[in-house]
Amino acid sequence: MSEIKKHWYKEMSVYQIWPRSFCDGNGDGIGDLDGIMSKLDYIKSIGVDVIWFSPLYPSPNADYGYDISDYRNISPDYGNTEQFKVLIDEAHKRGLKIIMDLVVNHTSDEHEWFKQGRADKNSKYHNYYFWREGKGKNPPNNWKSVFEGGAWEYDKDLNEYYLHVFAKKQPDLNMDNPEVRQEVKDIMKYWLDMGVDGFREDVITYISKREGLPNGIPLPVGAGIEHYTNGPHVYEYLKEFKDEVLSKYDCFTVGEAPMMTPKVAKEYITEGDSQVLNLMFHSQHMEADSFLTDWIHVPFSLKKMKKAFSTWQKEMYGTAWNALYIENHDHPRAIDRFGSLKYHKQSAKMLATMYICQSGTPFIYQGQEIGMTNATFNDVNEFKDVLTFNNQRLFKKLGVSDKKFLSMANRCSREQSRTPMQWNSSENGGFTTGTPWFKVNDNYKDINVESQENDPDSVLNFYRKLLKFRKENEIVIYGDYKEHYKSSSDLFVYERNLDGKRMLVICSFTEKPVRFTAPEGFDLEKGRLVLQNYDVIYNSNVFMTKPFEMRVYMFD
Ligand code: GLC
Ligand code: CA
Repeated sequence: MSEIKKHWYKEMSVYQIWPRSFCDGNGDGIGDLDGIMSKLDYIKSIGVDVIWFSPLYPSPNADYGYDISDYRNISPDYGNTEQFKVLIDEAHKRGLKIIMDLVVNHTSDEHEWFKQGRADKNSKYHNYYFWREGKGKNPPNNWKSVFEGGAWEYDKDLNEYYLHVFAKKQPDLNMDNPEVRQEVKDIMKYWLDMGVDGFREDVITYISKREGLPNGIPLPVGAGIEHYTNGPHVYEYLKEFKDEVLSKYDCFTVGEAPMMTPKVAKEYITEGDSQVLNLMFHSQHMEADSFLTDWIHVPFSLKKMKKAFSTWQKEMYGTAWNALYIENHDHPRAIDRFGSLKYHKQSAKMLATMYICQSGTPFIYQGQEIGMTNATFNDVNEFKDVLTFNNQRLFKKLGVSDKKFLSMANRCSREQSRTPMQWNSSENGGFTTGTPWFKVNDNYKDINVESQENDPDSVLNFYRKLLKFRKENEIVIYGDYKEHYKSSSDLFVYERNLDGKRMLVICSFTEKPVRFTAPEGFDLEKGRLVLQNYDVIYNSNVFMTKPFEMRVYMFD
């Protein structure tokens, strides 16, 4: 076992804000910086150390901020740069770091670069994107967007097509052009110089497309993906960003990496001179109830989830570092997927413990800390997202009825994570005094921050306790990891070890009673029960679990 190097990014935990739905300060129905500012103390009180902002930049919102029309500004929906500077300051005063979403695989089609490159083939901005002539009447290749039909959009004035791996309004940047890379470096510097502490790098493993843009395996969605995922120059470009910019700041990066495996991840995140990102988001554990996409739902398999987590734990330990999460703005709520609405509180606490007690940097998505759940949408037109509507078209072609599609969307849509934050039991959950831009979950009277503040047993207060516990016990951060009960479909059990101290984490993923016997070498009667979601009267070495029960024992 190699010595683990200590670093602040390993000890911190991160709170993700999806700004549009966090808190509305001026009553126009859209979350904003004033709203966020009013909640800084709250965020600090959870016990996190960093705020990651999903995009705050000006955007036509074809993909809610992930289509950027100006990298050096704050969207007027949210405020302005002056306010953002104050926010950075106020966050720093409270010991909170700030990381920005860096979305440079693509821009908006309303970005100046794209507009100029489209208006004039001879403009230098033409080569900022992938403009190609068609093949006869067909697009340049058979690639399909992951969001919206074909991956090429025809421009009749130019008689050329441009590439968009995501929505039509998200043309891909040509990162092979050194001028584009210079722009990226300048954008990074701009925000770092303003005082931000790092970046979450959006689909960063898509930034290098295979030379010649060859045809891909003809899939209905995302055809060509094998030619732009971990493409030939991703590492080289990230190394350039690191050497020329990031290494000059005390900052931190986490890259989003669809379909990432531990082996490939290690090329990017193994510690030492070759490291180009600090952490990487993979999604293998999120596929425990789905196939390729959340929209192809299969029954939840705890074994599949455990295998993903444990493999990453083992593969990263000592040489690289894990990014831990169970929710973000791209997935429905975790309790609906892996827990139980009937045992809401217990399963929320169990899920939190299950992933936060592993080795890695935990990320918590807004609302997760109070156990927000999926809403019930009664009409497809209540949805807002390009991906939902693309799936509507696709599933309709496959003969799926409107009614069935609505129930699929209620279960599978990423929009489930984007309903407004539930602050209190007043109208609209206290998110806005105006008309909310998006449906507020009907359950806001039962699940909200205010009601949980004063309840010592609430999900919110459990998160506080858990994060404090992590901070105060190095074993949770730097200990090693060993799984028990590997073949159980109901229990997730693991131990952590550091300098002779041991910790045992027991999580049940079922409401059924399961017989638990302490693994060899653990005497629960001698352990200290440090976290639990039920009262435990006697620490016996054999017990029947309660619904979604969790316990953490320490042995010092
Ligand atoms: C990432 C973002 C997602 C966005 C996509 C395109 O996956 O997390 O929200 O739609 O990239 O930018
Ligand atoms: Ca507002």
